[in-house]
Amino acid sequence: MCGIVGAIAQRNVTPVLLEGLRRLEYRGYDSCGVAVLQDGEPLTRNAHPIFSSGEIALVHNGIIENHESLRETLSALGRDGNYLASDTMALAGNAEHFIYLEEGDLVSLSREGISIADRDGNPVAREIRELEATKAAVGLGPYRHYMQKEIFEQPSVIADSTEHLVRFAPALFGAHANAVFAEIDSVLILACGTSYHSGMTAKYWLESISRLPTSVEIASEYRYRDSVPNPRTLVLAISQSGETADTLAALKHAQVLGHRHTLAVCNVAGSAILRQAALHFLTRAGAEIGVASTKAFTTQLVALFVLAATLAKRRGMLDAHREAAMLGQLHHLPAALNGVLALAPQIIAWAGSLARKENALFLGRGIHYPIALEGALKLKEISYIHAEAYAAGELKHGPLALVTEQMPVVTVAPNDALLEKLKSNLQEVRARGGELYVFSDADSKIRSAPGLHVIRMPEHYGLLSPILHVVPLQLLAYHTACARGTDVDKPRDLAKSVTVE
Ligand code: G6P
Repeated sequence: MCGIVGAIAQRNVTPVLLEGLRRLEYRGYDSCGVAVLQDGEPLTRNAHPIFSSGEIALVHNGIIENHESLRETLSALGRDGNYLASDTMALAGNAEHFIYLEEGDLVSLSREGISIADRDGNPVAREIRELEATKAAVGLGPYRHYMQKEIFEQPSVIADSTEHLVRFAPALFGAHANAVFAEIDSVLILACGTSYHSGMTAKYWLESISRLPTSVEIASEYRYRDSVPNPRTLVLAISQSGETADTLAALKHAQVLGHRHTLAVCNVAGSAILRQAALHFLTRAGAEIGVASTKAFTTQLVALFVLAATLAKRRGMLDAHREAAMLGQLHHLPAALNGVLALAPQIIAWAGSLARKENALFLGRGIHYPIALEGALKLKEISYIHAEAYAAGELKHGPLALVTEQMPVVTVAPNDALLEKLKSNLQEVRARGGELYVFSDADSKIRSAPGLHVIRMPEHYGLLSPILHVVPLQLLAYHTACARGTDVDKPRDLAKSVTVE
């Protein structure tokens, strides 16, 4: 929600601060301020001998004529000062190495160096890491919005996530994962927003592939209710930012209740949630700037599918043949996603109609119910159209009363075991004049008709189908928002990282 960027360096730091603030804007602000201290006049402390870190003293006589080239060389090495920020993205391109502070740490910055003291005032050394964010492209490239860029990055970030995956092994989740996985008998997932929807999707995989009873809770609910802890439960916190206050507090609450087996799936290295959990999985979505999460969601799904497969294998429920088939499907995902992204022109045509509505219903069944929830969330977040998602079997228990010619009903209709049931639900909508927008698989045999619009996905993707089916819903929300002229990347009143309750 808030962001800080600071610098102490020999060069003019104002552009660094302004650019840093601009990059932090995505976290959601309504105000900002800058303060700069300058001391240009000749003073004793500026005069030579010039000391560095108290170890090197430089004395020179006269004018340094090649000072410009020296300055350029030294700036290109990047060791011209020290910076601080609440988000590494603010400093990408200006700093190469970074240190994450622990809770309660106090840091003192000078041009020459930094010193850190812990909450008790004792000097401490914290690990210095290479700044990965410098590698992440923070520019828009040919795209109009970050959200659009991030939707189209999904094939490459998923390829990046799976390219080294040759088997499902506990070590993917940390050195102690094998011992932890041997002890667990159930899973409790804690998350917020889009990450909660990836948790809901994972429940289907964990129960069907690994046969582990799984519950999924909204972090802000779990932390305040009485629950009955089972010490053999794996507590799984999912978060793009790794900084969401409710998810972090829920994880700490679980630990206070006695849960020792904790795993964090996060997209930001060194983030608080990642550091709080015993086991980790770092998703490889890269920096996500658009407030509405897209590529972080699909990379979370990949991570959670890998977790389900790993647990299944560890529990003797995955033979080599099935493991190879699952790995093959994961490796083919980027190509399949490219096929889905090619549907954009058809989706843009639908978005034009949807943009004129003020309400929409989303339907899905089984593992695609959380995908319908995610589609509705995307639409309401960025287009401000009121959207609700239902498990299609629930239509008759309430939402059917809302269905008229004015109600668009977006349906996720893959060719799975529930398709025939879903077709009956669609008939109920048609009978009331509702306008259906159906994403079906190529072989679903649902044909377009008056009031029934169909876009066919290129292929049915079995267990991993949710990863493909969410993409057209992201595109639909994006193009609907564009048609309504909203601020797609920074929707009103929403923030990327919600670090307060
Ligand atoms: C905010 C963001 C959402 C995100 C949610 C959880 O509400 O706008 O896009 O899903 O926080 O964030 P996390 O970083 O924990 O996944």
